[in-house]
Amino acid sequence: MTPFTRIGRILKDGQPGTQVDVRGWVRTKRESKGGFAFLELNDGSSFASLQVVVDGGVPGYAESMKHLGTGASVRIEGEIKESPGKGQRVEVHAKTLEIYGLADPATYPLQKKGHSFEFLREKAHLRPRSNTFGAMARVRNALCAAIHDFYQSRGFLYVQTPIITTSDCEGAGQLFQVTTLDLARLAAKQGEAVDFSQDFFGKKAGLTVSGQLEAETYACALGDVYTFGPTFRAENSNTTRHLAEFWMIEPEMAFYDLNDNMNLAESFVRSIIKDVLAKCPDDLAFFNERIEPGLLDSLHHIVENDFVRLTYTEGVEILQKSGKAFEYPVEWGHDLQSEHERYLTEEHFKQPVILTDYPRAIKSFYMRCNEDGKTVRAMDVLVPRIGEIIGGSQREERPDILVERMRESGLNPDDYWWYLELRQYGTVPHAGFGLGLERTVQLVTGMQNIRDCIPFPRTPKNAEF
Ligand code: 4AD
Ligand code: MG
Repeated sequence: MTPFTRIGRILKDGQPGTQVDVRGWVRTKRESKGGFAFLELNDGSSFASLQVVVDGGVPGYAESMKHLGTGASVRIEGEIKESPGKGQRVEVHAKTLEIYGLADPATYPLQKKGHSFEFLREKAHLRPRSNTFGAMARVRNALCAAIHDFYQSRGFLYVQTPIITTSDCEGAGQLFQVTTLDLARLAAKQGEAVDFSQDFFGKKAGLTVSGQLEAETYACALGDVYTFGPTFRAENSNTTRHLAEFWMIEPEMAFYDLNDNMNLAESFVRSIIKDVLAKCPDDLAFFNERIEPGLLDSLHHIVENDFVRLTYTEGVEILQKSGKAFEYPVEWGHDLQSEHERYLTEEHFKQPVILTDYPRAIKSFYMRCNEDGKTVRAMDVLVPRIGEIIGGSQREERPDILVERMRESGLNPDDYWWYLELRQYGTVPHAGFGLGLERTVQLVTGMQNIRDCIPFPRTPKNAEF
């Protein structure tokens, strides 16, 4: 037991008459004419701050009030009282006030309310002290717990796949290279091929773009598994939906076909949103009021209704018949742009959509080929305001076709010998998908920019902090 109490506890269960010790950061100070002051104290344990009444009799009152302001850290001992004011059940009347650290009002960046998110991104070390980022951190945490709960309660094993790898799961060449070679010296030897046998791992290695291939090895032994880890993509996408470092949850299930995969993905998304609605009512009420009007209705709508399922080909037909002037034309065989995905889910169906059976030429090598020779057993889950939030597929379990697909995608099957052996020895139908954590945080909070859905975003030209 700590000698102090977190504010969230006091606001929820604190009984008038109880003596408490509270510690936190001052959000605002209001001095009153009658020789007393109100402090709004926040310690991150709840959205709401605690009102502390400090009267002139508190030792050191005058001196403290001269210096104390927004951002200062303090310790207060006092008594919980019923609050006569609106908006809070209880408040604390201080008996002592100790200052841990002042925050100079001339320089403290979070002095006033209502900073732009662009500004706060440059203060990523202080932004968790703001309403929005405190709420974001609590929602993100609740989502992570809900994700583990979902899989753990269904008997899935949490497996840790490597962060450093020599495989390119998506085959798109977006690996950040990991090397101990002396790049400056290599640059001086221009024209010579790099000898990766001299590198730390003896061959070209990088940061993983997905744990899927390794997860498949465990699924093809243990049945139901999932990963939950950091993922890296060196893609130069400066959008509100792309990060160079993000977190992905990748379940992988033996003996699942695409239909089973869709059922799991749908109940997964609905279940974690439901959990967060239950666990973070104050934070979500804030997002609903201040960030994205209608957010709560849209989340309840997702939880309560079935997702729409259709094929990519059907989706393309709807888009072509829509009469909408899209920036990018819609043509069978091309990947859908976010504007197309959003049209389907936001305007046409007005609920999440699962699109399946994409053209094989635009999807990864591991997706199971359909009999038509043109499409694969892929699925993307599309949600309002974001577009794709999940990508997945049934996996190609037939070794000869898999080798052909690797060659088609420019991968050398020898490099993936172990992945092919899963098909050579006791191959089974299996399927899986990946959910982007930050896009899920975006969905649940209504935040516009994915850079505000992770504590320290990494994007092209930006790795500060
Ligand atoms: O569709 P993706 O690329 O699929 C895979 O990586 C598969 N290996 C998953 C699997 O089947 N096990 O990525 C999956 C999800 C996307 O739908 C998106 O939510 C998120 O990961 N994602 C990103 N999130 C933020 N920034 C990026 N650059 C992202 N790229 C993908
Ligand atoms: Mg995808």
